[in-house]
Amino acid sequence: MSKLSQKPLSQNSLTQASPVSERFKHVRATSRELGAPLSDADATVQSMPDASPAKWHLAHTTWFFETMVLKPNLPGYEVFDESFNYLFNSYYETIGERQPRPMRGMITRPHLDTIYAYRDHVDAAVETLLDRGASPTVAELVELGCHHEQQHQELLLTDILHLFAQSPLKPAYRDPQPLGVGAEPGEARFVSFDGGIVEIGHDGEGFAFDSEGPRHRALLEPYRLADRLVTNGEFIAFIEDGGYRDPLLWLSAGWADILANKWDKPFYWSKRDGEWWTMTLRGAQPVDRDAPVTHLSYFEADAFATWAGKRLPSEFEWENAAAGLSMDGNFAGSGRLRPKPAGPSSDGTLRQMFGDVWEWTRSPFSPYPRFKPVEGAVGEYNGKFMCGQFVLRGGSCVTPEGHIRATYRNFFPPDARWQFSGLRLAEDA
Ligand SMILES: [Fe+2]
Repeated sequence: MSKLSQKPLSQNSLTQASPVSERFKHVRATSRELGAPLSDADATVQSMPDASPAKWHLAHTTWFFETMVLKPNLPGYEVFDESFNYLFNSYYETIGERQPRPMRGMITRPHLDTIYAYRDHVDAAVETLLDRGASPTVAELVELGCHHEQQHQELLLTDILHLFAQSPLKPAYRDPQPLGVGAEPGEARFVSFDGGIVEIGHDGEGFAFDSEGPRHRALLEPYRLADRLVTNGEFIAFIEDGGYRDPLLWLSAGWADILANKWDKPFYWSKRDGEWWTMTLRGAQPVDRDAPVTHLSYFEADAFATWAGKRLPSEFEWENAAAGLSMDGNFAGSGRLRPKPAGPSSDGTLRQMFGDVWEWTRSPFSPYPRFKPVEGAVGEYNGKFMCGQFVLRGGSCVTPEGHIRATYRNFFPPDARWQFSGLRLAEDA
C-alpha cells in the first residue's frame, strides 16, 4: 500500500453568490490540489471506457474555458496547442471531431506537466478577460465553466478510485489511515409529507444547470421518506438473506445484469477472513457497517428497497423534502472522501440529505415542462442525455462544497456503479 499524500483538501468557503473571478480562481486551484498526489502515469491510464484519465479531466475543463469563453470573447487570444481541440473535446458535435472516449487513455503525450502549463496559459487569459470587465454573457459562461469543472473534480476522484481499485497494491489516493468509528445511526425513522401540488425546479436565483428548470408544478401523493441513508449493515442483511439470488426482487434488466456480470455484492467489496472490505480513496478498508452503503447500481438500490418492503423516492418527492434544508454535509473539502455514519437522531428530522452518497431516485432524467436547451454548443451540455438514465440527488462525499442544490439533478445509466451512489427509502403514506 503506498501513501501518496496526506495533505488535506482545501475547504471551499465560496457561496453561490461569490464573484465569478473569485470562484474561477478557487475552482482552478482546487483542481490543481486534486491532481497533486498523482504521477504522470496515475493521471494517464484509463481503467474503463466510462472513466477518464485525470490528465484528461484537467485538460478538458481547461479546453472548455478556452473554447467556450476565450476564443469567442478575447480578441488576440493565442490558442495553446491546436491539437488539443481534438484531444480534449468531450462530446460537442458542433465543435468537431474528437478522440473517442474509450481511447482517452492512449493520450500518453502531452506529459502532465504540459497540461499544467496549459492550465496556467488559460487561467491567465481568463483572468485578463475578467479584469477588463466581463459582459454578463461572458460572466455566465465563466460561471458555467466553474460548475462544469467542479463536476469533473468529482469525476476525477471517482475515476481515480476505479483506477486504483484495479491495482493489486490498492494504493491510497489520500491518507490511508482507517477512520474512527462514529456513533451508531439507530433505526431509520420515516418522516411524513402531505404532498399536493408543489413547486419543482430552480427559481432563477443564483446558478443552476439548464436541466434544473423551468420551475413548474407537480402533483405528489402523500409519502414518507427515511430520515437517513441505507447503511452497509442493512445492505449486508440483504446479501445474507439471499437478496442477490432472488429474481423476484429485481427489475428484469437488473436481473440480466446479475446473470451477465455475476453481481453478488456492491462494487469494490471483497471478503477477507469472513469480513467485508471495500476499496476507498484511502486504500482498502474494512466496510463500516454504520456508514451509508455506496457504489450501488440503480438496480441494486431498487432491489434492496423491494426487499425492505419500501421503494425509491421520486426526484420530486426528494426535492420537495429537501427544499429549505441546510446544505451542510460530508463533501470533498472535508478530506474524508468516504461516506460517514449518520450519528443518532434526536428529533426525527431528515439527515444526510446532502453529501455522503448520491441518492438514486426512481425518476428518469427527462426534460421538465417547457425545457429548451440553449442555442449553440453549450446547448449540448445536458439535453441530449435525457434518455435511458435515472436521476440522483443530494451530492456525495466527493462533491465539491458549494456545488450542490436542492434542485440539482445528477444522472447516470441504471447499471453505473463506480459513482458514490446509494439510497434512501421511501413509502406511500
Ligand atoms: Fe465536460
